[in-house]
Formats: sequence, structure tokens, C-alpha cells
Amino acid sequence: MPPDRDRVRAVDHRLPADRCGLLALARPGARPRAHRADPPTVLSDDRLTPLDAAAGPRPARDVVGALRLDEPVGDRPRVAAAMIVSADGRAQLTDRSVGLGNAADRALLRELRTGADAVLAGTRTLHAERYATLLDDDQREHRLAHGRTPHPVVVTVSRRLDVPVAEIPLFDEAGVPIVVATEEQTGTLEGCGADVEVARFTPGTLDFPGVLAHLADAHGVRGVSCEGGPGLLRQLIAQECLDDLLVTVAPKLVAGETLTMLTGDRFGDTGIDLALADVHRAGDHLFLHYTREHP
Ligand SMILES: NC(=O)c1ccc[n+]([C@@H]2O[C@H](COP(=O)([O-])OP(=O)(O)OC[C@H]3O[C@@H](n4cnc5c(N)ncnc54)[C@H](OP(=O)(O)O)[C@@H]3O)[C@@H](O)[C@H]2O)c1
Repeated sequence: MPPDRDRVRAVDHRLPADRCGLLALARPGARPRAHRADPPTVLSDDRLTPLDAAAGPRPARDVVGALRLDEPVGDRPRVAAAMIVSADGRAQLTDRSVGLGNAADRALLRELRTGADAVLAGTRTLHAERYATLLDDDQREHRLAHGRTPHPVVVTVSRRLDVPVAEIPLFDEAGVPIVVATEEQTGTLEGCGADVEVARFTPGTLDFPGVLAHLADAHGVRGVSCEGGPGLLRQLIAQECLDDLLVTVAPKLVAGETLTMLTGDRFGDTGIDLALADVHRAGDHLFLHYTREHP
């Protein structure tokens, strides 16, 4: 039975969609930059650059278009990750992120789903956020008009094929293509109405370069939108598979025993450097676009 509308709203991750524009704060007509050629917001001396509200709002679709998710990076798909955090850096409000977003953030997430060939999310995220109904009809039509499949491939990783499919409505949606990458050699996922492929990797060989290669080879994927969570995203970054990081900062304080944007081991003594490519605001939410340069 398809979930009713109220249920979808209640379970959907930072959704439903809205048509809100994002106010470009960096520069009029700003486009993402791949390096620090231009002055970032905070200068190396003690002056701060004001964010330019005169640039005017940009639709979320334009912001996503500038990410070039149809252009692979070398021989692997381009990967952009979108996360939302509170002003104190928390990625959850309760046991989920629902309640941190605003209309523009939800629109950005929807447009990332519309503009990417695949959507990557961790198993605990799919479960915690009760993933369902990723796109609206007009977004499906937009994909078709741009030569894409009506629905992005949804990808998750579970080494032990431990996916609570009965508690993730998306797994029961007819026509939704889902890839579950695993090292489990014999187990299956029962009771799915979606079009589920179990991609089996030899034990000890499951990693994100391999998953991305499979997506490119078997599904023609050129660009991936990663929706976390913190555990999966850390692995993706550690394995040099992230190109763009979109961080929404919500005007809220959370504290408590909640997850931050990344969990797992520290990235060495120096951390990982990012370049600030673009900044927007919508209401009191701040939208930061960072790029990662690979060695
Ligand atoms: N604020 C936000 O924007 C945001 C976004 C998403 C999620 N969240 C929140 O974050 C929470 C879930 O995040 P989480 O970090 O607990 O889980 P998660 O990232 O959703 O899931 C962990 C994933 O990482 C995989 N993984 C772990 N180690 C790996 C490795 N070495 N190689 C390959 N895959 C590996 C796991 O697969 P295995 O089964 O193999 O371990 C699993 O798919 C939820 O509460 C959700 O609400 C917040």
C-alpha cells in the first residue's frame, strides 16, 4: 500500500519540495570556483568581506546546474554531498535531521535528486529518515526532458546486506531503481516492490571507488548526489570520492548526544582542506558550497 500523503510528509527527509530561490551572497552572477583564486569571505588579514545581497536570488535548480553533475571526474562519476547542520554543528535534531531544514534547503535537496543520475545514502539514513517518494511529477518530467531516466538510481552500501527494507517505504515503490552494494555472497532482500539490484563485491573489496565504477559501467551514472549520513560521508571523503560539499547551516542550537556531520576516525593531524566556492542565504539559513581538490 503506498504511504498516504501525511505519512510521506512525516517520514520524508527534509521534504517536501518548495520553489524557493537561494540568495547568492558571494558575488552577482557567481559561479562555483574550483580553487581559491578569488578572495574568500574571510580574508587572510583581519577584514571581513560583506556578503553581497544585491546579487539577487537564484533558483535551487540553477545552483544545482552549476555543479555539472552530468560531467564525470576522470573515469568516475562526479559526487556532490548535501548535509544540513545546526549552528552548533549537529546533523540531527532528534534521531533525524527533520526540523533543521527550511523550504530552500528542501528545494535544493529535491533539485540535487533531479539533476543527478544517482542518489547515495547510508542504510541508517534510509531507515532513520524513512525514505519515500524522492521526486515530484514535474521533477520527473524535467529529468525526462533532459534525457535522464525518470528516477535517479538510489544507491546504498551494506557490507552484511543488513537493510531493513520493510521500514523504508522507498523499497516498496514500483519502478524505483535501487542498487544495494554488499559483500554478502548469498543473502537476498525479500519483499521489495522497487527494482532492487544487489551488487555483490568479493569480501574485503567493497569501497566507494568500486561502487562508483559499478554505477558508471552498469547504469551509465555520470553524477551522484550523496545525502549522508555522517558515517557514509566520512568513508566517501576518506576514499577520495567527494568533489563538492554543500553544507546548509540552520539557525538553531541542538547540543546533546546528537551526531555531527562526520563520524569516525579523525582525518589525520591536519584535517582535509576545502575551498569555499559559493555562499547563499535563504531566510536565516546559510548555504555553503565547498570543493575538494584531489591530490
Ligand atoms: N543532517 C543531515 O544532513 C543528515 C543527512 C543524512 C543523515 N543524517 C542523520 O544521520 C543518521 C544516520 O547516519 P549514520 O552515520 O548513523 O549512518 P549512515 O551513514 O546512514 O549509514 C552508515 C553507512 O556507512 C556504511 N559504511 C560504514 N563503514 C563503511 C566502510 N568502511 N565501507 C563502506 N561502507 C561503510 C554502512 O554500511 P555497512 O552496513 O556496511 O556498515 C552504512 O551504509 C540519521 O540519524 C540521519 O537522520 C543527517
